[in-house]
Amino acid sequence: MAYETVTVSVTDGIAAVTINRPEKLNALNAKAKEELGLIFHELKDNPSVHAVIITGSGGKSFVAGTDIEELTSLDTTTAQQFAEEGQALFTFIEHFPKPVIAAVNGYALGGGCELAMACHIRIASDNAKFGQPEVSLGIIPGYGGTQRLARLVGKGKALELVLTGKHIDAAEAFRIGFVNRVVPKDELLSAATETAKLIASRAPLAISLALKAVNASYELPLDEGFRVEAMLFRLACGTEDFHEGTSAFLEKRKPVWKGK
Ligand code: COA
Repeated sequence: MAYETVTVSVTDGIAAVTINRPEKLNALNAKAKEELGLIFHELKDNPSVHAVIITGSGGKSFVAGTDIEELTSLDTTTAQQFAEEGQALFTFIEHFPKPVIAAVNGYALGGGCELAMACHIRIASDNAKFGQPEVSLGIIPGYGGTQRLARLVGKGKALELVLTGKHIDAAEAFRIGFVNRVVPKDELLSAATETAKLIASRAPLAISLALKAVNASYELPLDEGFRVEAMLFRLACGTEDFHEGTSAFLEKRKPVWKGK
């Protein structure tokens, strides 16, 4: 299926999803959010896809936020649903059963910063810039930013970013633990692909159970999180791939995963 604002291609089990509105610095309009949702639903059901990389087109921006022109029509009767729909899209990505890597290639502001936060791993190019500038527009982050940012970098840093609306560069984003790695701009996609391929070489059901378990650590009290971990560990032990992985180790050979 062809899309207007997002491109998608799959190579060697790795899907590359690119927000493609470079003339608007890849700002997320309604169409882009709709297409992103459709694409992620398709990728979820595509058994040949083992990992997803998400990036922005053009050399300047990952996603420069929600489309500000579209924001202007919001009022108190429409804004809550608008925020909840954005939150649902990003939560779908956060709970995606395959790893999603944000390859942040420039501005990741507002909804772009929130999209990066919803991804499982963030790799930034050295020209990337991050920020939650909503207060300079008279609003607050509405796609999960106020909740995810504090969990990711701590309350003090989250408040500093949300209250000042300032941009931080890739080095600072790495220092505060927002991004996993910073690489030169022209190495960004190869670095993201290398990480995606490494994860894709592991047992696929174990990867999705591990994603579930680590996500639970964000959402549940510790004792419930331990219970969920034990339950998911039990499920992993019921897979054919568990027997394959352990046998392959003992037989000193590479495992051949079935995803069963
Ligand atoms: N929504 C809608 N359009 C946006 C946008 C957004 N979030 N971010 C950038 N654009 C558009 C600009 O309006 C401009 O369009 P035009 O050429 O038709 O006028 C185009 O993208 C290029 O942006 P421009 O501002 O000219 O580039 P710049 O290099 O001078 O500045 C930014 C780059 C990212 C600093 C600046 O565009 C910006 O601050 N964007 C808004 C970021 C934001 O507040 N995001 C949160 C929204 S909730």
